[in-house]
Amino acid sequence: MKLIDSKTYQNLAKAYAGECQARTRYKFLEHGARQQDYTAMADLICDVITQEFNHARMLYTFIETACSDTIENIDIQSGYPFKQKWNLIENLKLAAEDENNEATKIYPEYAKTAKEEGFKDIEGLFNNLIQVETCHKSTFEQLYNQMKNGTMYKKTKVIKWKCADCGYEEELKEAWTECPLCQAKQGAVLIQIEDNN
Ligand SMILES: [Fe+2]
Ligand SMILES: [Fe+2]
Repeated sequence: MKLIDSKTYQNLAKAYAGECQARTRYKFLEHGARQQDYTAMADLICDVITQEFNHARMLYTFIETACSDTIENIDIQSGYPFKQKWNLIENLKLAAEDENNEATKIYPEYAKTAKEEGFKDIEGLFNNLIQVETCHKSTFEQLYNQMKNGTMYKKTKVIKWKCADCGYEEELKEAWTECPLCQAKQGAVLIQIEDNN
């Protein structure tokens, strides 16, 4: 089967649109975090934005292999989330839900179809994306929980906090409200995210 005649070709285009939209939604999130002086959180989200861009880039690269001529248009029919409102904490929760949906429903289905249609490389791409989107889900979930529970900058044990702006470090239960060295706000203190992969 030629890629251009396959369902996988359509799925690549749908996934590409999804990644572009995810990148934009997280740009909204980053904007909201910066507006509220959560600069360390904004920087974390910025890393996810870059990763979504590169997911879109790889999907685009595969789409281009389907045809030696210019691809004028691809008609796709698909649904995408439009749940977000301008509320930082709520949007973190929704971002975790959307990532979970990609990692557990959408991309496993696309990987399965690619396998059935004999596109091994594209099956591999979707499986690699699943691994990353699972990580993204965990990051957003942790940010949401820490904001909701008030534990982002207040722990039950003494930990080492670090100012992202100037590098100042101190062991405390609760992060300073203003950096003793550079006077940056609390939101510049690096956030503890567990890597649970
Ligand atoms: Fe992605
Ligand atoms: Fe993602």
